[in-house]
Parts: sequence; C-alpha cells; structure tokens
Amino acid sequence: MRVTVIGTGYVGTVTGACLAYLGHRVTCVDMDQEKIAKLQRGEMPIYEPHLEELLADAAARGGIDFTTELAPAAQASDVIFIAVGTPPRPSGEANLSYLEAAARSIGAAMDGSKFRVVVNKSTVPVGCGNLVETLVREGVREAQPGEEKRVRFGVASNPEFLREGSAIADSLYPDRIVLGAEEECTTKVLRELYAPMTEQTFAPPAYMPRPVAMTSVPLVTTTLTSAEMIKYAANTFLAMKIGFANEAANLCERVGADVKEVMAGIGLDSRIGGKFLSAGLGWGGSCFGKDVQSLLHTAEEYGYQARLLEAALAVNRAQRQVVIQKLQEKLFILKGRTIALLGLAFKPDTDDLRDAPSLQIAERLIQLGARVKAYDPIAMPACKAQHPELMMQYCDSVRDAVLDADAVVLVTEWDEFRHVDLEKIAHLMHQPVLVDGRNLYDPETARNAGFDYTGIGRAARARTNRNSQKGDSQPVNSRAASLEPVAALVDAPHK
Ligand SMILES: NC(=O)c1ccc[n+]([C@@H]2O[C@H](COP(=O)([O-])OP(=O)(O)OC[C@H]3O[C@@H](n4cnc5c(N)ncnc54)[C@H](O)[C@@H]3O)[C@@H](O)[C@H]2O)c1
Repeated sequence: MRVTVIGTGYVGTVTGACLAYLGHRVTCVDMDQEKIAKLQRGEMPIYEPHLEELLADAAARGGIDFTTELAPAAQASDVIFIAVGTPPRPSGEANLSYLEAAARSIGAAMDGSKFRVVVNKSTVPVGCGNLVETLVREGVREAQPGEEKRVRFGVASNPEFLREGSAIADSLYPDRIVLGAEEECTTKVLRELYAPMTEQTFAPPAYMPRPVAMTSVPLVTTTLTSAEMIKYAANTFLAMKIGFANEAANLCERVGADVKEVMAGIGLDSRIGGKFLSAGLGWGGSCFGKDVQSLLHTAEEYGYQARLLEAALAVNRAQRQVVIQKLQEKLFILKGRTIALLGLAFKPDTDDLRDAPSLQIAERLIQLGARVKAYDPIAMPACKAQHPELMMQYCDSVRDAVLDADAVVLVTEWDEFRHVDLEKIAHLMHQPVLVDGRNLYDPETARNAGFDYTGIGRAARARTNRNSQKGDSQPVNSRAASLEPVAALVDAPHK
C-alpha cells in the first residue's frame, strides 16, 4: 500500500519505518525542514535504539522517503497517518492546532481518484475523529470548491502505545493494535495494512528478534470514540499505577518497609501484575502528564470530577520534591553545595526531555543556591539546546560529574550507571551522599562502597537482628539476594 505519515517525531518516524519494513511504500512528511533534511541525509533527528538500521532496512524493503511537501504524498496514498504533536496548553487541554492544520492540508491535497483512509495516530481527546473528518472536508471545500462529493475518505483512530527507548520492538511486536472507525470499509483497509504485523508473517530484523512464542497480535476493532478513550484510559491507568508505587514508597519509609520487596510481593498477584510498580522520582515524559491533564479536562467538560486522576497528578507533583527533601535531610544546607545529577532524559534510551524530573530538580536546586553538575550519555546536547535557562555544568563523564560533589542524585537509570564502580565514585566526592532516585543500586552494596545511601521507600532492615537472635541465621545479604529475581519482575517506571 502507499502510505503517508505526517509528523516525523518519535511516533511518526518509527511508524513510517515499521510500515515500510513490512513492505509498504511510505512517505514521511514534516513541516520542520531541518528534521527532513537530516532524515534525507540518513541522520537521526531523535535518539531511538536501532532506528537508523530500521530505516536502512525499510528503504530496501517497501521504500521510505522524507519530504516537506504533503500534497503529492497524500494524493498518491491509500492511507494517511497523522502523527503530529498534541502538547498540553497551560489549561491542561490538548493543543490541537497541529492536528487541525494537518487535517485541513490533507483535505486540500485529496482528489477523487481513490478511497483513502485518514488515520489519527496522535493522542487526542474524545471526539477528535469527528473533528478530523470535518476539517478534512473543510480543507477539500476551501481548496477545491465543488469537489467535495468526489473526494472519498474514511477516518480512523489508531492510537499508539510505543515507549521511547523500546519503540521499535513495541511497534513491530505490540501487545495489541487498536482500530476505531465508523465504517467497515475503513477498518478493512487498515486490517490489510497491518496484516503482516497482526499475523507476524514478516521476517524479523536481526537486531530486533520476535519475542519467543509470539505468533499473532490481537486486533481490537471498535468505534472512533472508544479507540480514543482506550489510549487515554491506558496512559492514565499506568500513571496511576506508578503513582501508587510512589505513594506506597513514602509509606514504606515511614513504617520501615522496603518498597521494592512490597511491590514485588504484590506484583506476583496476576490481578495486579509486576510492571509499572517501580517507585522513584515520579513519572515524566511527553505523554503521562499531558494525557492525565487532557482526560481531566474532558471530564470537566462533561461535568465530572475524576478524583483518581486528580490524585495521580498531585502525587506525582509531590514526588518530584522528594529528592530535594532527602538532600536537605542529608546536607542541611544546599546553598553553595555541589550536587551531581546522573541522567537528564526522562527515561533511559531516549534523548527526550519533555517533562523530565531532572529539569525540575535542577531548577529547584539552582533556586536553593546549589551548584549543579550533570552528566547524561545521550540527552546533554538536547538539554543544552532546549533549556539554556538551566545554569548547570555539563560534564563529560560520571567521574567529572561526581568529582568534589557533596551529593550525587541518580535521576535516570541508564545502563551505564548500573555498572559504575561505586567505591571509586564515593572516593572522588567531597561527601559521599547518594540519593538513588530510581532504586537502581542495592543499598547494602552502596553503603559498603562508602556511601551515605538513600533510595525511595527503602527502609533499613531493622528487623533482621531480632530475627537472628531468634535463631534465624540467614544473613541479611543472602535474604536480600533471594528476593532479587522477584524484584526484577517489577520493571522501569516509564511509558
Ligand atoms: N512520544 C511517545 O512516546 C508517544 C507515544 C504514544 C503516543 N504519542 C502521541 O503521538 C503524537 C506525536 O508524538 P511525538 O512524541 O512523536 O511528537 P513530536 O513532537 O516528537 O513530533 C511531532 C512532529 O510533528 C510535526 N508536525 C506538527 N505539525 C505538522 C504539520 N501540520 N505538518 C507536518 N508536520 C507537522 C512536528 O514538526 C514534529 O516533528 C502525540 O499526540 C503523542 O501524544 C507519543
């Protein structure tokens, strides 16, 4: 099939590359000339593992090209995806201006030569499918008066569930594909488009093997409104799940429990599931915050108070302050102290800084008079370019960042940070204080390395001595180790 994808961001580029990999002929369109020029030169405008290889494979299979010219691409296409940004307005409502512009341009470009499907992949409030249909029609009417009846198209909602950092695996091997449309002819086109994916008939790329035992992908076909609601319900549920883990962590600290063990214990319940139960600095990224706010805004429009969603936002807001409180407890005075931040991206394996906890932490520390040094393996150029207001020192390595620091905060759990030599780091610091914002390190190991360690919701094991007096001779470390495989079931707190 001929496919156009409008928007070459984190979603559009990956979607275009995957569809071309499946054998479709894809054109990716963006109004950002610099982004398109980069993609045309084979350079990646975003950091996403294996995207470069996938794009090369996609070019060799179905074929993929990049342009700023929407009209010729849309005219040639059977399916036109809208994958533009829908950022939040200050009121919390989604800014639909990019979506509206894209829909009008599609209408202006379409002719009566064939039936086309316009697919909304951007995350949009309930009702936007209808809005897109209206805007496409208006686009046709304005650009080609009298042609409206000849132009045939259907509108579908096909929400995206990929996670940055594992976007390619999430797209080629998704948990489900959701298609919302009002007419069967529209759904039929998309069924055909996605058939190689739903039936898993394509040869997997060498760098992204198919998960063992995966033979097909469930296809959920529904109405436009339900599809739009599925996306918001999924993201808000995940945000609440992480919020729950954070709330539990704060309670664990008070009662003397370890949140990692508590979440591992509840995650084994199949009704709960172990994923998205990692306590930490609170969620960030381009989706959770904006989607919770957007659904709250929709609820308000319908006169409904969505209390759980309000609480999810409030808990997350408070969680962002926990690191500052912990630093104040350890150092008392932050003025003039040097704090090292390890990680800036909102999660590992991406350069995305949208709503990243690091930004708020750095800003607050600077306000409080601290000197901030930061190191991130990938996101530093993006941070420098997008946040010139943050007066922090960017460092070339973990070593540079921690040198002479009064405390180090683990902000993003990049793999590189997992393997650092904690003892060496502790020796390089002015004061070996470690605030582990992602519970990445084993507290005992960090303390043995010389750190004054504090994680999130990880109380010291005060009860162990009493147990050993009663004849429980199992040492602390081996008891902790015996829980590790269980704790590992609880994955990273991101979308
Ligand atoms: N990033 C994610 O992890 C993720 C996951 C699932 C869903 N989503 C949703 O997908 C949508 C896109 O997200 P993203 O992160 O890829 O956004 P992004 O900001 O990275 O990319 C959007 C792109 O659209 C382009 N654009 C905007 N208006 C345009 C127009 N009229 N014509 C051509 N190009 C235009 C922009 O220049 C930009 O390159 C959002 O609605 C988001 O909520 C994102």
